[in-house]
Amino acid sequence: MRKTLIVGNWKMHLNTMQASILLHRLQERIRIHRDIEVVLAPSMLVLQPLSLQIDRRKFRLAAQNAYHKDMGAFTGEVSFTMLRDLVHYAIIGHSERRLIFGETLTDISEKVAAAVRNGITPILCVGETKTDRLAKHTKRVLHDQVVTALKNLTSEDVEEIVIAYEPIWAISTFGGELATPNLVKEAMDYIRHQISELYGKKTAEKVRVLYGGSVDDQIARGYMEIDGCDGVLVGGASTSYHKFSGIVDAAYRMQRELGEET
Ligand code: PGA
Repeated sequence: MRKTLIVGNWKMHLNTMQASILLHRLQERIRIHRDIEVVLAPSMLVLQPLSLQIDRRKFRLAAQNAYHKDMGAFTGEVSFTMLRDLVHYAIIGHSERRLIFGETLTDISEKVAAAVRNGITPILCVGETKTDRLAKHTKRVLHDQVVTALKNLTSEDVEEIVIAYEPIWAISTFGGELATPNLVKEAMDYIRHQISELYGKKTAEKVRVLYGGSVDDQIARGYMEIDGCDGVLVGGASTSYHKFSGIVDAAYRMQRELGEET
């Protein structure tokens, strides 16, 4: 069974003090759960102090980005090698990285390879723009993003990775239009189908696929209930104690109900 994953991407919000206070409050509220993993992705600056404060039975840490070279004269960058003892996951190819910082498909595949080489699990973000969708190019865009990002990996590597389907027009930064669960399911099925074509059905069944795009405590469950959806990647709502813990509560409730059914 694939574990449910709830990831909070704090983006460029919360200084060290604010981050520490939010973690402290979440830590009191969130329980240890065998089937649910809660991951926090704070800014690079805050990773180190949070790693000392964090209860590792309740949370895992993720980097929001890193550079693909392991070390060298790359002013201003931090490598996956430097992060390997600090984080379990790294978000790679987020649409803000692609659109604001101009990351290309090649950059992203190099980052995915560097993360895996350093024992860090990539959370690979993929998703189409509104223009792509209107032009009926969604599948082509998802195909290119998935295939190029994974191209340096073996099927054992791919089994471990996480893919977040984040239609760009649904992300709060770029419009925040709500995607219907049907549309999300169709895209997620297509992503898993691509992985199955490339690496086989067994691998595709192990990959966790998340949804991201304006998810908050009110609507998270609707996405988490989609067949084949393994959790959510939360941006804006993840820096709100009430909204983020509400999302984790929704995941607990779903697991409890599932347990009661079986
Ligand atoms: P949002 O961000 O939840 O604020 O839309 C999601 C993301 O950027 O991953």
